[in-house]
Amino acid sequence: MNKQTILVTGGAGYIGSHACLELLQAGFDVVVVDNLCNSKYESLARVQQITGKTLKFYPADIRDKAALTVIFQEQAIDTVIHFAGLKAVGESCQQPLRYFENNVYGSIVLIEAMQQANVKQMVFSSSATVYGEPPSTQYVEHFPMAAVNPYGRTKAMVEDILRDVSTADQLAQAENPWKIALLRYFNPIGAHDSGLIGEDPNGIPNNLMPYVSQVAIGKLAQLSVFGDDYPTPDGTGIRDYIHVVDLVKGHIKAITALQGDLFSGGACKAYNLGAGKGYSVLEIVSAFERVTGQTINYKIAPRRAGDLAEFFADPALALKELGWQVEKSLDDMVADTWAWQTKNPQGYN
Ligand code: NAD
Ligand code: UFG
Repeated sequence: MNKQTILVTGGAGYIGSHACLELLQAGFDVVVVDNLCNSKYESLARVQQITGKTLKFYPADIRDKAALTVIFQEQAIDTVIHFAGLKAVGESCQQPLRYFENNVYGSIVLIEAMQQANVKQMVFSSSATVYGEPPSTQYVEHFPMAAVNPYGRTKAMVEDILRDVSTADQLAQAENPWKIALLRYFNPIGAHDSGLIGEDPNGIPNNLMPYVSQVAIGKLAQLSVFGDDYPTPDGTGIRDYIHVVDLVKGHIKAITALQGDLFSGGACKAYNLGAGKGYSVLEIVSAFERVTGQTINYKIAPRRAGDLAEFFADPALALKELGWQVEKSLDDMVADTWAWQTKNPQGYN
């Protein structure tokens, strides 16, 4: 296929902006739709500055069918990467309807607009959180979905919807059947190595890496390590951290795979995007101290409700079918987080 045009929903966000950068560098044309509810246009300005290329930005909400229709009329979109969504687990427990409305209804509107425009290739941002608490700590794609919070359930529901629209096309032997890759991210951290784009959380971060980095720079006083009595070697929680640049490269591999034999005739397939190896909270803290030379002030605090002791990806399927695996190390993730933090102590403000 010739040069593709990719519509990136949520493209101004943390992962979306890194995806836009990699797509432009790989020679794709990029169109972004984002309502900027959790991001700033500045991220896209910087993506264009780094690449020396331009992208088309539509400030719109994916729940706005008319706005999406205009985008599909004005732009010859080949594939959609669907990042737009709300992502805070705790907030989703307090405001479940807002999460279902934004993430599930918003996805339905997008899928309808795509169907109407006969654009039927999608890469969807799913999450390891769809697995819930399976029998093994190393998650394999065929494990059942059993999300334990509203955010996770929005991801599982959108996966189900996408599988169903794909199955309908296969049964009907549709001429242009849906081709969908569901990418289940483990724990994305890090930033582009330019230090110009990165994660810019609103308020006090919920996630470990941005919290550690704000302690290191003095914005926050102390890290609370949530639990040191888990059944893990040092007692703290273990996660599979993945560099955001590795993660977005997985999306480009997925776009390529959608054109290949595996998806001919239509398919909807899930892939874990993770390293296949976990690090504990204390290992992250000590890597951060070693790589940056900063001291991280921390205390041991009670476990955080809803946290699991340990999980990490089985990334074998992504390697086999997408030809993708992580390339960056934990030290890269820390160094790039720190470069972004020190160059942009106030984020994009
Ligand atoms: P982010 O909040 O930085 O980016 C999401 C973007 O979507 C934001 O720019 C936001 O403004 C936009 N958006 C939200 N609702 C919208 C709507 N209705 N219409 C238009 N734009 C809308 O988050 P992120 O970390 O970049 O995550 C991107 C995707 O990856 C999300 O779907 C998230 O659930 C998923 N994901 C993230 C992680 C993670 O740890 N960061 C893990 C697994 C999955
Ligand atoms: N942690 C701390 N202190 C903090 C923050 C986190 O000790 O201040 C610990 C947690 O207890 C956990 C680990 O650091 O053991 C990682 O926590 P994060 O909040 O960074 O990440 P989670 O694994 O809890 O969740 C993240 C995203 C979810 C996504 C999930 C998918 O927030 O949206 O990864 O793997 F679903």
